[in-house]
Amino acid sequence: MNLLALAVLVFTVVATPVDRDTNSTGGLIAQLKLEQNTFTCGACKDVLTILRTASRNLPRNMALRVVEKACTSGLLAGFCQNFLNKVPGLSGTLGLGTDFLDAIEIMDTQGQDGDYFCHFLLGSLCPIPEFRAPDVSTLIPAKRENLPPLPESSGGTFKALHISDIHLQNSYVPGAPGNCVGMDLGGMCCYNGAVQMPGKPIVQAPEIGYYYCDTPPLLLENALANAAVNQSDYDFSIFTGDAVDHGLVFLTKEEMIQEEIDTFTSLKRNLNNIPTYPVLGNHDSWPYAQDPPSNLKAGDRYQYNRNLMEYLWSDGWLDSDAIDDVRHHDTAYSVMAKDNLKIIALNTNFWYRFNLYNYNNLYEADTSGMFQFLVDELDDCEQNGKFAWIIGHVPPGGLPDDAVPVQTWVFTQIVERYNDNIAALFFGHTHQDEFTVMYAGDGTAKTIENAINTVWVAPSITPLSEYNPSWRYYVVDDKTYQVMDSVTYYGDISSGSQVNWQFEYSARETYTKYFDWDENTPLNGQFWHQVSTGIRDDPRMAQEYSSLQYRRTNYAPLCHDENCRMENYCYTSSFNTINGIKCRSGNSKLSKRTMLQPNVPMPRPERKDKHVA
Ligand SMILES: *[C@@H]1O[C@H](CO)[C@@H](O)[C@H](O)[C@H]1NC(C)=O
Ligand SMILES: *[C@@H]1O[C@H](CO)[C@@H](O)[C@H](O)[C@H]1NC(C)=O
Repeated sequence: MNLLALAVLVFTVVATPVDRDTNSTGGLIAQLKLEQNTFTCGACKDVLTILRTASRNLPRNMALRVVEKACTSGLLAGFCQNFLNKVPGLSGTLGLGTDFLDAIEIMDTQGQDGDYFCHFLLGSLCPIPEFRAPDVSTLIPAKRENLPPLPESSGGTFKALHISDIHLQNSYVPGAPGNCVGMDLGGMCCYNGAVQMPGKPIVQAPEIGYYYCDTPPLLLENALANAAVNQSDYDFSIFTGDAVDHGLVFLTKEEMIQEEIDTFTSLKRNLNNIPTYPVLGNHDSWPYAQDPPSNLKAGDRYQYNRNLMEYLWSDGWLDSDAIDDVRHHDTAYSVMAKDNLKIIALNTNFWYRFNLYNYNNLYEADTSGMFQFLVDELDDCEQNGKFAWIIGHVPPGGLPDDAVPVQTWVFTQIVERYNDNIAALFFGHTHQDEFTVMYAGDGTAKTIENAINTVWVAPSITPLSEYNPSWRYYVVDDKTYQVMDSVTYYGDISSGSQVNWQFEYSARETYTKYFDWDENTPLNGQFWHQVSTGIRDDPRMAQEYSSLQYRRTNYAPLCHDENCRMENYCYTSSFNTINGIKCRSGNSKLSKRTMLQPNVPMPRPERKDKHVA
């Protein structure tokens, strides 16, 4: 078949030389050469356009040769070295080169799609485009009349457990180098092939876990057994994603799958009395972070992972309706967790920056179909007087560079529209214990009246990087499903031989030292607004927050100075990516975080260097 295709191609080239340029490897490579050394936005989009032509007109193996050419020099070089090539199998049928071609094949490379791609993935070659809101009028229906009244609090509560970012590292070997080279490039410490970092203290990976490594099996069992001690107190638990470790350069597909299986099996074994409601994280996929929605041709290649989730999440966790959702909505689902509480789980890979499939048709509000699912589920809540919790992995905001702006803006519109029914939102991903406040409207008037909701960003089980493992439970109003308190535990691993688990803090107790808060009022957007402004204005509070972010390790940054305080203020007051960008650009002290060529992103986010006083 390939030979035949080649013969047809050669024949075409010979017969019609005029068309040579777009239908042959050589012709496209010649065009590339003209653009490759001009580091401008226009050249970036032209290169993408040439590669798109290759992906459309050439058989895959030949189009990959054009990509490889584009990778060896010039403006794609950094992107390829630091991202595409890092993941095994650039030229294989399942490699990232194939994903790159599949993704650009349907991209408007000369328009907004190209602008965003060249900004977020190609070292800011294009400036961030002026935001153009997609039309959401057909996606989001207007509020209806005569809605049923929503239940009010009667003072009763229950507890729910929250676990996040396990990152099981099956390759962990006690005694292997704990300080190693290559972590910023997708390598991993604490395994047999790790190479000691010159100039750093030699640390042999302790048995129980280490601050620059992911979670060894021993620590996972230890942490979950600890979280499960009082499991009969909890009605259910949520797990906000990332089962798999950060060693993405070396991790094979089989190893990735094994870590998914082992993580979910461990959750089931340890929390066998309560259901767990999970989501997919950006590491729970192979190659790293790639996850085309199933409405794209490439979606078929990723079906195996969705099938696996269907299997691992059933049996005591999700009922058959929810499993049906997992099957039809690319692992998003809804489930009634309590009488009147619906948990809606999202697949946030559909807004994650490093999923190459997120840059298609950015003029449209809902290319993955996930937002239609979310709207339908929330509409059901509105019409039937139910409350919703939304859970996901990558938070929609906080940072200006982790999620593609268009998708998180659409998400914001949906949350604001259905806010009366959304009791809480829970995410993970950053490994830090943090939160973001949602402000009404465009999110720039950051007043207490405008603070209408909050994203809880949960601390990780993994110690990577520089955190003590941690989990928490919420005390939840049993009628309104709002959070009355969050209680966080952490395990000090500094001894290396054992984990010293202890109570860390209650959010209510901690922050009501700084401002008054009625004991019957939930920890809502207005509560967290006061924490956020406190971080900005009060060095003592900023320091306490910083220490909790890191779960009291010695690595917690000093945060008295204005830079650190503003950094955390922008994070905690920016519900989506656009707000994150605006907040930072409004503060001359903060770096604009110009996108560099992507290093394989790990761990996210490493913000400490900006915090140091
Ligand atoms: C180039 O290839 C495309 C896709 O195979 C085809 O549609 C087009 O007709 C070809 N152009 C020429 C001039 O052969
Ligand atoms: C378990 O519950 C007991 C009694 O309420 C409490 O003292 C203890 O701190 C809890 N332990 C954990 C790990 O949750």
